[in-house]
Amino acid sequence: MPATIVLGTQWGDEGKGKAVDYLADRTRYVVRYQGGNNAGHTIVAEGRLLKLNLVPSGILYPHITPVIAGGVVVDPAVLLDELDRLTEAGLDVSRLRLSLNAHLIMPYHLELEKVTQRFLGSNALGTTKRGIGPAYADRAARVGIRVQDLYDEQIFRAKLDVVLKEKNQILTKVYGRLPVDPERIVADHLAYAQRLRPYVADTAKLLHEALAGGEHVMLEGAQGTMLDLDHGTYPFVTSSTPVAGYACASAGFGPRHVERVIGITKAYVTRVGAGPFPTEELGPDGERMAERGREFGTVTGRPRRCGWFDAVVLRYAARLNGLTELFLTKLDVLSGFDRIKICVAYRAEGQRFEDVPPNQTLFHRAEPIWEELPGWQEELGHARAFDDLPKEARAYVRTIEELGEVPVVAVGVGPAREQTLAVGP
Ligand code: IMP
Repeated sequence: MPATIVLGTQWGDEGKGKAVDYLADRTRYVVRYQGGNNAGHTIVAEGRLLKLNLVPSGILYPHITPVIAGGVVVDPAVLLDELDRLTEAGLDVSRLRLSLNAHLIMPYHLELEKVTQRFLGSNALGTTKRGIGPAYADRAARVGIRVQDLYDEQIFRAKLDVVLKEKNQILTKVYGRLPVDPERIVADHLAYAQRLRPYVADTAKLLHEALAGGEHVMLEGAQGTMLDLDHGTYPFVTSSTPVAGYACASAGFGPRHVERVIGITKAYVTRVGAGPFPTEELGPDGERMAERGREFGTVTGRPRRCGWFDAVVLRYAARLNGLTELFLTKLDVLSGFDRIKICVAYRAEGQRFEDVPPNQTLFHRAEPIWEELPGWQEELGHARAFDDLPKEARAYVRTIEELGEVPVVAVGVGPAREQTLAVGP
């Protein structure tokens, strides 16, 4: 049976949680494949507002096994706290499965990120300060600690000893901070390990068996294509690989299982943190989007930068991910504008670019070339079918589809589950 990949096509916060939730009826496994608790999903289901950072949104469904795959970095204290909150809200979290291969975000990662970002001053990336970058750096440097290490105390102590020799030197001698205490870390983590034991599994094997048994698997990305370590606006990116190609690598099965790649695209664009953003609107239009779209980070509470839709970015994402379809979210936020702008190409150094320019200097200088469409005044939240939408809103959706060269299959007009409208050809 096939797998479906769902991922963001912009700089994150496209509303993936709602889209996964909408598609979850058809699936038995929802697998988070990269990132960590730098992500945040807000889901409204049956009148409940739920915030998820690490647990895949499929947790809402009793028929779904949520899986945290090996390519995710996990802060165990945060995960346990999230599980407690979900349990308090009445959800059964016992189905969650956590890969033995996932790397841990350790207390020294948090400390190091704080001091290194401060050290960068005006060049800081504006990270979420959740230890994501330092944890992925240690993973690549092969001094990371994995979930499975917690279940062999001797190995855990030995690995911690090796890594702390270096980290404590850096913390004390370079940054003038206090060293971290290995005994405290061991005690805390052995306790976390006990609490996490029921969830820990060989998730690649689990997914092989699921696929072989004819089950449908959904792979859920975090962040977005433009924050991808390789293909995003480097260095203003996250330290993992949100693009579709990584989903199978992290989950641990081959790409032949993937049948659909669904791009989640917000009807306008937002970005948190520093870095280029060609369609950013610093004036009243951007403020209106931020206000109507409640564009504040789920993780850090920071206001998100807002701007008009960027079809160049969408085309780029469509190709990089091999998108088969689009889910357009938050269309309702755009009600009340007289004119709606879409960026169809860029101009930089006197040249026109139909595609994302090949180097970062040009991308930083890119000015949008706009196409303008008539807006609509009506609120869209009550629409229950695509044809209920005003003709200008439908025309906007069709224009995005044409410019992105990918069909839109669903449109979101509000946070509730029934505010997702199916779109036909
Ligand atoms: P990090 O992932 O915390 O290392 O942050 C790197 C960059 O990615 C920063 O600009 C963050 O604001 C951004 N970022 C990380 N996670 C998300 C997300 O879930 N949504 C939007 N931006 C994110």
